[in-house]
Amino acid sequence: MISVLSIHIIMHAIKGDNMKSSNISGFYKMSIEERLKLVKEYADLSEEEILILSNTGCLDPAKADRMVENVIGTMPVTLGVATNFIVNGKEILVPMATEEPSVIAAASNSAKLVRVTGGFKATTTEPIMIGQIQLTHVEDVEKGKKAILDHKAELLELANSKDPMLIKLGGGARDLEVRIIDTIQGKMLINHLLVNCLDAMGANAVNTMAEAISPRMEELTGGKVYLRILSNLAIHRLARSEAIFSKEALGGEDVVNGILEAYAFAAADPFRAATHNKGIMNGIDAVVLATGNDFRAIEAGAHAYAAWKEGGYTPLTSYEKNANGDIVGTIELPMAVGLIGGATAVHPTAKACVKILGVKSASELAQIIVSVGLAQNFAAMKALATEGIQRGHMSLHARNIVSMAAEKMGIKATTELIDKIVPTLIKERKVRMDRAEELIKELQ
Ligand code: MEV
Repeated sequence: MISVLSIHIIMHAIKGDNMKSSNISGFYKMSIEERLKLVKEYADLSEEEILILSNTGCLDPAKADRMVENVIGTMPVTLGVATNFIVNGKEILVPMATEEPSVIAAASNSAKLVRVTGGFKATTTEPIMIGQIQLTHVEDVEKGKKAILDHKAELLELANSKDPMLIKLGGGARDLEVRIIDTIQGKMLINHLLVNCLDAMGANAVNTMAEAISPRMEELTGGKVYLRILSNLAIHRLARSEAIFSKEALGGEDVVNGILEAYAFAAADPFRAATHNKGIMNGIDAVVLATGNDFRAIEAGAHAYAAWKEGGYTPLTSYEKNANGDIVGTIELPMAVGLIGGATAVHPTAKACVKILGVKSASELAQIIVSVGLAQNFAAMKALATEGIQRGHMSLHARNIVSMAAEKMGIKATTELIDKIVPTLIKERKVRMDRAEELIKELQ
């Protein structure tokens, strides 16, 4: 009998490269080997990249030892692929590194809904990062501000002299803003150096430039510089995505209304907004981590932006009904991710994940990442406003519970044992260790 996998591979060969589809039916039913074979074919991966993804050739100790200090090993995180994504007309398989069950399935399900209405439409602003320079002890802050602004061109030139490569490629320091802020230590001049970082996350370039211009700023103002560091509240480096979820595909008006009620709750209540945004970050962090980017920077930027943009903590997504009664969802947040430098450039798994995504620029990567965030958030809201979140979580959770119970009893958790016990746990709605242990005992 011809397998699902062979059908996909044959169809793919017939269709040719530019007609690849990320809508792969039955992907979740395949074995890991089958999925890997399909992804290899899809993204034109080499045998070496397949070994890397399957972990056998992942991060060797010598490489790991060069990445951080005091290395004693590596910590593998499960890596899956979300299907069904179309972003700006391009079919995309999305690698996601996460330990949380249901996240990848949920993102794939939302993306399937969005396929019907043409996929995600995403944009980014220029990749401008802010480098902050803290000038203290300036006697007359207004005069100090003027002195800096009068010498802006000189200071920008000095900053740019530190990164000729970035300048050659079209990036570099673009502007310098000066803010006067009141602090418990007195007035400070907080200078924002705005740098176009192109395809880099930018921390190194921005910090180097900020350090380079600080002595001259001290000279100009008679003040003292302390901190020189990038801000993660990257309000000039935003990514946005929009998607339409059709009323019919959602199952009618009741579901649409339930989702809008869920959004209204989050928009009005920071306690709910925090969890709403956590759901968004389930998707975002998973792609950020899979591509070796700095997920703490993205988390910091996301939550700070949620608190900053309207002067109080709000959701990073918004939803409204269009004239057809469909839901239009949008997401907007800072997305300081890079394709060059950092772990993205050295971690073999991250490099393979970038290849699977097929992205050529950091801005394309950012557009996909926010689209995944929107998909993730929509899936959570849909589940919460209808059947509740637990049902979808239960099946994988139950498998983990049986494994843990068997391990505790000193028994091997075979697939056969798990398959026998999980349906009973779910049917009885008792996905608990004690019940799993009882059932294992009964079976023996
Ligand atoms: C769980 O990881 C994420 C959710 O709590 C998100 C949400 O409540 O919107 C389900």
